[in-house]
Amino acid sequence: MKNFWPGLAAEARSKLKKPIIALAPMAGITDSAFRQICKDFGADLVYSEMVCVDGLHYKSKKTFELLKFSKKEKPIVIQLFGSKPQLFIEAAKIVEKLGADGIDINFGCPAPKIYKSGGGVKLMRDLDLCYQIIKAICDAVKIPVSVKIRSSINSLDGKKITALDFIKKIKDLPISAIMVHGRSYEKGFGGPVDLEIIKKVKENFSGLVLGNGGITTPEKAREMLDITGVDGIGLAQGVLGKPWLFEQVKEYLKSGKYKEYIFPQIKKVALKHAQLNFKLKSKQGILEMRKHLAWYAHGFQGASALRQKLIRVENFREIKKIFGFIK
Ligand SMILES: Cc1cc2nc3c(=O)[nH]c(=O)nc-3n(C[C@H](O)[C@H](O)[C@H](O)COP(=O)(O)O)c2cc1C
Repeated sequence: MKNFWPGLAAEARSKLKKPIIALAPMAGITDSAFRQICKDFGADLVYSEMVCVDGLHYKSKKTFELLKFSKKEKPIVIQLFGSKPQLFIEAAKIVEKLGADGIDINFGCPAPKIYKSGGGVKLMRDLDLCYQIIKAICDAVKIPVSVKIRSSINSLDGKKITALDFIKKIKDLPISAIMVHGRSYEKGFGGPVDLEIIKKVKENFSGLVLGNGGITTPEKAREMLDITGVDGIGLAQGVLGKPWLFEQVKEYLKSGKYKEYIFPQIKKVALKHAQLNFKLKSKQGILEMRKHLAWYAHGFQGASALRQKLIRVENFREIKKIFGFIK
């Protein structure tokens, strides 16, 4: 298929069929264990948590930990954030050497810490610098380079800089894919998603476009695909405590129906997720699981009481006990 994720290794490319249902990057959430769970439910492509290029430059052990992935997660895209082109080059080379299938650049994060450091969505205010960063990475590595952007950000003099301005600026760069979060910087993470601008990006960019924002149900996934004509979608908050949304979306797109998950199935998924996290991160993995466990404990009778216990767990055995797998 012409221009289908250009540059992606043949093996990985052959596995990707449109529409691509991807796990969008989420810091503190899309770690190796969660990515594996999402793969189990049919995620076609997974993004890592954002990884700081400065952290890699200064050899931070914690930052290097974020780069770990298993074969099962492929094709995997590692997302980088920062603001200095030279550090992006160094980081991109490290990522390529590790065997990742692609590098994504974060131009959408509004978190104050990232924003203040000049990275994330703040870069959208300086399209020349965005261009320099992307070009530097594209020149430095052979694996595909993609970007994640927001629908718009207001400049300091009140002018709106949109996703369309962004793609116009970078049109001569060999970018393989763009994920567009259809909310402005000012709108944050909630509320309506601008499907029109995602549609316009799709019409004006020759690589792959993935639509993102507000996809919490299979119906919303179909709406995003139908209205915007994108090549795929990125699921984020919709899969918190609900990684089976990947399976449901695929079922729905095929047959117009999907099955709901009930408690006996949910607890098995949650336990497998916890087991993986424990295997990969020991005690820290269990502590990080607390928020996931709280998300899993939703939407069934007794969920609230269960949640109160799950957010305090200290070890894997305790989780098994609370779910009733052992006495
Ligand atoms: C907790 C959290 C962490 C996130 N971390 C990242 C990140 O590391 N990189 C990134 O590009 N976007 C990040 N995002 C944004 C999501 O990828 C996505 O664009 C956003 O949540 C909108 O999609 P949704 O409405 O389906 O959640 C994060 C979002 C959340 C909620």
